[in-house]
Amino acid sequence: MRRKLAAGNWKMNGLTADLGEAETLATRHPDPRSEVVICPPATLIAPMAARLAGSAVGVGGQDCHAVASGAHTGDIAAAMLADVGARHVILGHSERRADHHETDAAIAAKVTAAWAAGLTAILCVGETEPDRDGGRTLDVITAQLDGALPEGAQADNTVIAYEPVWAIGTGRTPSAAQIREVHIHLRDALARRFGAIAAEGIRLLYGGSVKPANAAEIFAIADVDGALVGGASLKASDFGAIIAALDAA
Ligand code: 13P
Repeated sequence: MRRKLAAGNWKMNGLTADLGEAETLATRHPDPRSEVVICPPATLIAPMAARLAGSAVGVGGQDCHAVASGAHTGDIAAAMLADVGARHVILGHSERRADHHETDAAIAAKVTAAWAAGLTAILCVGETEPDRDGGRTLDVITAQLDGALPEGAQADNTVIAYEPVWAIGTGRTPSAAQIREVHIHLRDALARRFGAIAAEGIRLLYGGSVKPANAAEIFAIADVDGALVGGASLKASDFGAIIAALDAA
């Protein structure tokens, strides 16, 4: 059985004053059935991990560099994330693909680096609106998965997040049938490359405008093992309601 996962992506939001939201969340959800992770901006990883130590809420990063150390001003290595308490790292988010021109090959190198540091990679894939309108959704997602996920993916080092670009921060979500179609496709693609055992264990998250109001409906979709939540992960009340919906699914 795959353990469900609620991952919060704070993106470029959060100051030390906001660490209390994470603590409140951990206090209200001392023993969730689902795994819960918050990925704050890099500046907050160490203090958040310290504040959440001993709680059921884990901490992750939002990106890492592909190499272990060296002359890369402004970048952060996977081992540095692990060193301050991160256990997960989001990689290949569409905002990084867009803002920093990250290619699938560059993302694959980051996934390899994350694994080497003992981190679980939360690899994001997803189509743009023109891709979907043009009937290319499954082709785009297959290409992203093949290009950005190296050999060696297994249940304990990889999570895939399906995040349609047009659903991120827009309040729009795909239909249940559309999410289901992509998740079944992802599971099949994983099985072809990594074998049935790995594919059965790798968790598939949906991300894009997940809110307390639509969480139960999304979590009822077969093959949705949880969510990658942006805006609604910033407040303990909203993220807590999403966790409760996932625990009940
Ligand atoms: P929103 O939940 O704000 O739409 O963001 C989704 C996302 O990009 C999570 O990585």
